Amino acid sequence: MVAVKETGVASEEYTFATFSENPFYYELNGKLVDMAEVQSREKIMDLACGTGGVTRLVLERLRGARNSVIICIDHSASALRQARESLKERKEAALLFVQSRVEQLTEAIKGKVDAVFYCNAIHYVPDKDELLRRIADVIKPGGVFAFNTSFYEGPLEPEAVAFYRKWMLKAMRVLKQDYGLSLQKSEKVESRKHLTADDYKALVERHGFKIKTQIVDAVKVPLQGWIDISKFKDFIEGSMPGVPLDKASAALIKAVKQTYEEMKITYVARNWLDVVAVRV
Ligand SMILES: C[S@@+](CC[C@H](N)C(=O)[O-])C[C@H]1O[C@@H](n2cnc3c(N)ncnc32)[C@H](O)[C@@H]1O
Repeated sequence: MVAVKETGVASEEYTFATFSENPFYYELNGKLVDMAEVQSREKIMDLACGTGGVTRLVLERLRGARNSVIICIDHSASALRQARESLKERKEAALLFVQSRVEQLTEAIKGKVDAVFYCNAIHYVPDKDELLRRIADVIKPGGVFAFNTSFYEGPLEPEAVAFYRKWMLKAMRVLKQDYGLSLQKSEKVESRKHLTADDYKALVERHGFKIKTQIVDAVKVPLQGWIDISKFKDFIEGSMPGVPLDKASAALIKAVKQTYEEMKITYVARNWLDVVAVRV
């Protein structure tokens, strides 16, 4: 089942596109892009661009700029296909799509850029020092590196903790009841070690950057946001490894609706760490 979803047209179903169209998500990334002040930057990179949501935000701020180029990099061919399709009418800058792992960034592109955006994806990479070395290598002195992540070690509202626990327990129950499936012990997600906000600051500083802005954006995520993230392959596989995508996704969606109803909530607070740093 999983293999079918990973090949051909069916894999398009589980990309990031639906989630990235949520207004709260658009807004939180827009804040980061504004903080980076890219209007006059000529060569920009959107690392782990996904289906192009952040690229669009950058393009909107480049209106009137001439000779701008945005290099969009992602390792997912289906995400890049969707990005290319959704941005094909845009004329504000030339767009270059490159399929590569971010870890191979310096092999994938030639020359240096004025700004790098890296939204909602830095937490995927285990060796962040090696990655930052490469990012620093491709940014011109005075250039900007802007990234955000909601997967960092930081304080969580007690209600958010209760929400996640309830949601995951319910999802496993639904999986068992509706599909007769359960998570294999060996396949349970190893809890990923996340960096703190201070760790991220130290990381960029030891690779030749000076922090320009670092903030925590407290975002209210509505039910639709959790439903839509449950349609994204990386999230589904992280929450329910080894389970066929369609069944895991359906279980997560049913369970999150039940959780919102039971807790009588309209949103769950989630913090995003935003960092804008300048290459010294
Ligand atoms: C959560 S999405 C974020 C997309 C976009 N940056 C945004 O904020 O809307 C994460 C993206 O990172 C990509 N990705 C994850 N690990 C990667 C890696 N090691 N190299 C390249 N792309 C990666 C995934 O394919 C996915 O498109």
